[in-house]
Amino acid sequence: MTQKSYSLIKKSQAHLLKKTPFYSRTKEGEFIIYKEKDQQLGAAKQRTNKHPELYINAKDKNTALAELSTVLNMDLARSIASKGFKEVKTALCKIVEEALSPNQEKMLDALPETIEILLNSYAYNGKSLEYLTRIDGNSSLIIEHTVNVLALTMQYCFFHNFADKKIKELAFCALLHDIGTSQIDKAILEANHRLSDKEFKTFKTHSAKGHDLIIAETDFDSAVATVALEHHERIDGSGYPNGIKKISSSSQLIGIIDCYEPLTYHDKDFRKAKTPFETLKLIKEEVQQGKFDKKIFKNFTSCLIK
Ligand SMILES: [Fe+2]
Ligand SMILES: [Fe+2]
Repeated sequence: MTQKSYSLIKKSQAHLLKKTPFYSRTKEGEFIIYKEKDQQLGAAKQRTNKHPELYINAKDKNTALAELSTVLNMDLARSIASKGFKEVKTALCKIVEEALSPNQEKMLDALPETIEILLNSYAYNGKSLEYLTRIDGNSSLIIEHTVNVLALTMQYCFFHNFADKKIKELAFCALLHDIGTSQIDKAILEANHRLSDKEFKTFKTHSAKGHDLIIAETDFDSAVATVALEHHERIDGSGYPNGIKKISSSSQLIGIIDCYEPLTYHDKDFRKAKTPFETLKLIKEEVQQGKFDKKIFKNFTSCLIK
């Protein structure tokens, strides 16, 4: 087998994958079995935390991702049941990080379960979702952003008494709105400077890339792919990628939350985080310029200030 047939396992995940066989690599570059299928890692070699670099075979990748998604969702449910918001935020960030990783489309299958867990846990206390957005989940910017957009979107849905079916659809829209960024250079995504024109042009391709990925790799409703494509469009035609004016209402809602979230959450060298009130004032100016729908903005504001 060539090295291409094997992929390295993240150290943080190795102990979670019981069903999946692991391999280690000899000095000669040969891959040999390290842990059989259904064996616990600890029992495999009776060493503690002193494992070499471990690999999985490409043929076991889907089993491993399915197992990982189950374990991560269980971790989320446990965090909600017994711990504070910090643990919940971290658990959610882990799920989103895996789901948004390149070439791990199988992890997207975990998301309906993730949303089900959140829906059941927060339906009667939607306001608590807002607290999640104020907590650091120890993840990269884009993962934190996605989880925060999800929490705010669900808060909006609960506040306005949306039916479960609609809440789930909007939650998927929020989770996947920036999935196209999995195909954008990390240096651009995590840049600590204002993007150059060339970098911004590349960044802007994430909308169409996300749309195509959702259509090609998932069974989510086409509305979810539409939001990935349209969340940077504006109703006055000033957005991207297509400068269209007729935008789905879901895209408009996620578009407003998408603008609101980074302004309130992150402190960057070139941009101080703003208070929710300051941010809403800024977005209101854009509403007055005709970029966002007045009613959707008003509805979003009311779910934040009540
Ligand atoms: Fe985006
Ligand atoms: Fe976004």
